[in-house]
Amino acid sequence: MILGRSQLLLSVVLSSALVVQSAETFLWDQLTPSEDLQWVQCYSTFQCARLEVPFDYSNENVGTAAIAIEAPGGSGVDTIVSMGASFQVILGNESSLYDIVGFDPRGVRYSTPIASFFETDAERALWNAGSLPTSLNASSNAIPNAWGRAHLLGALAAQRDASQILKYLTTDNVARDMLRITQKFGFDKLQYYGVSYGSILGATFAALFPDKVERIIIDGVLDPEAWFSANLTIEATDTDKALLTFFDGCAAAGPDLCAFYRPTAAAIAERLTALTDSIRMQPVPAITPAGYGLVDYSLLRMTIFESLYDLYSAFPALARGLAALENGDGTVLYSILAQAPFQCDNSSEISLPIDDSPVAIQCGDAVEVTDSIQQLVEYYENSAKTSQFTEFLVGTGRISCSGWQVYREGRFLGPVSAANTSFPLLLIANTADPVTPKIAALKAQAGFPGSVLLTQDSPGHTSATAPSLCTYGYIREYLVNGVFPTPGTICSVDATLFEPSATNSTKRAVLNADEMDLLAAIKDIGDSVRSIRPRFGN
Ligand SMILES: *[C@@H]1O[C@H](CO)[C@@H](O)[C@H](O)[C@H]1NC(C)=O
Ligand SMILES: *[C@@H]1O[C@H](CO)[C@@H](O)[C@H](O)[C@H]1NC(C)=O
Ligand SMILES: *[C@@H]1O[C@H](CO)[C@@H](O)[C@H](O)[C@H]1NC(C)=O
Ligand SMILES: *[C@@H]1O[C@H](CO)[C@@H](O)[C@H](O)[C@H]1NC(C)=O
Ligand SMILES: *[C@@H]1O[C@H](CO)[C@@H](O)[C@H](O)[C@H]1NC(C)=O
Ligand SMILES: *[C@@H]1O[C@H](CO)[C@@H](O)[C@H](O)[C@H]1NC(C)=O
Repeated sequence: MILGRSQLLLSVVLSSALVVQSAETFLWDQLTPSEDLQWVQCYSTFQCARLEVPFDYSNENVGTAAIAIEAPGGSGVDTIVSMGASFQVILGNESSLYDIVGFDPRGVRYSTPIASFFETDAERALWNAGSLPTSLNASSNAIPNAWGRAHLLGALAAQRDASQILKYLTTDNVARDMLRITQKFGFDKLQYYGVSYGSILGATFAALFPDKVERIIIDGVLDPEAWFSANLTIEATDTDKALLTFFDGCAAAGPDLCAFYRPTAAAIAERLTALTDSIRMQPVPAITPAGYGLVDYSLLRMTIFESLYDLYSAFPALARGLAALENGDGTVLYSILAQAPFQCDNSSEISLPIDDSPVAIQCGDAVEVTDSIQQLVEYYENSAKTSQFTEFLVGTGRISCSGWQVYREGRFLGPVSAANTSFPLLLIANTADPVTPKIAALKAQAGFPGSVLLTQDSPGHTSATAPSLCTYGYIREYLVNGVFPTPGTICSVDATLFEPSATNSTKRAVLNADEMDLLAAIKDIGDSVRSIRPRFGN
């Protein structure tokens, strides 16, 4: 049984990763929510519970939400099917002391009530027709269109929010839920590992409950000020740097490993520009086993941008896709983000997991955005000076929020800081993270005197997308022994871009079995991070 260990390690949004990695489904709605943690077996080797929490902690009469919580039930490397189990490996001999617990934030996936703006899957599929976001640079009416869609969706969300839950999905309430979960386990203070949006959650918790911090690690750190002001421009600081690693890595790897090879990085960059210009003029139709559609300017750009999140695994396929596209074959590139065509299953119900929550959380957290179309055009053009990729995420995020209507008075808007937390935070940043640059982590760190920033010398989003025994050694030391890396520490990674196989490199040949297990666990955490990555601002 998983209860009763002497440590609790909490992390966010795991159930979707479980779903991705487990062949089994679990009917969450048949599990009755309870004010105490009541566990049942789920996903073969896991334990699941639904914890009842108040929507509004300042007025418990408003109603309740049920938070989906899950934890690995077994132990040891043979149960590596999720981030939680991977952490058991990383914690090593100490893992038997920990309950490693993941949860879905309120409104998200298996936590109820869910944020859903549509009444059926078919309705949502029609709204998302084409499914991938359009580049704001695809045409001169892209921004007016995106603005119009954001206003329509914002109005629809507000109108259909009959039970008035959307305004309670804010990060401050999720932080309160984390304290509640911790207390229900019988602990006074939180131990937490959060990536990406989870960094906002961890930092907000530390700001609201500075005396409840046992250990907090935030990795792939967003700038809290940027988050709460609905202005993510700073997050694009290193995006172009991540793209440069594609050009450099490809030139260094050679034509056998990189299908889009040219002898220099500059020549590869030119080759990509020529291809992009050509696709802008003439899109390429693609029919693949996974789905069909057009490889047009937006899809090409989005595929490149998405590849920057976890380039150690994405770059070889991206290079093959680009090379095939040059030859008029769009199928390889299309397959990277392809989604199966929507099929009606005659059901009038919505099926889980659905996810309309990112826009509700991101926009509902921030100050109200009242920009006109002209202001949004200027905002996008200004942000484009920071990176050539703000046509997604930065620009689309701001536009989505310009149509949002549901805000709660008195929600937490920052400053995300605390003069003294009961234990200092550990922050982790990569040197070329496409969406959470080191400068954002430095800004977050400034709010927490005494916290330490560990740098990992790699491109990609969060440390987990590149395996580093060094980084995970420090994570372990911090969690288990409360020991920090020396300020200024930079970890290198145990991988090379365009490496033929993740388990077959000269570097790894010298590793022992424990280290190999550890690298496998890190890779698994990377896979989980990938599968749960929210797509803000679509
Ligand atoms: C775990 O315990 C084993 C056996 O006691 C020991 O050999 C090993 O070094 C320990 N590993 C760590 C990471 O402490
Ligand atoms: C839009 O795309 C064109 C050509 O692809 C490029 O020259 C221009 O800089 C882009 N605009 C922005 C704002 O990124
Ligand atoms: C957004 O943030 C950037 C800096 O990251 C700043 O230059 C810009 O003025 C901000 N825009 C708005 C609308 O606040
Ligand atoms: C949907 O309805 C059609 C026609 O009644 C039927 O042939 C089909 O099997 C149904 N599909 C599902 C998934 O129930
Ligand atoms: C910070 O808090 C810790 C634990 O609550 C306490 O021991 C320490 O003295 C405080 N430091 C400062 C500078 O207030
Ligand atoms: C590693 O790669 C080399 C060269 O690509 C190959 O000859 C060898 O069989 C591979 N080893 C393993 C264990 O896959």
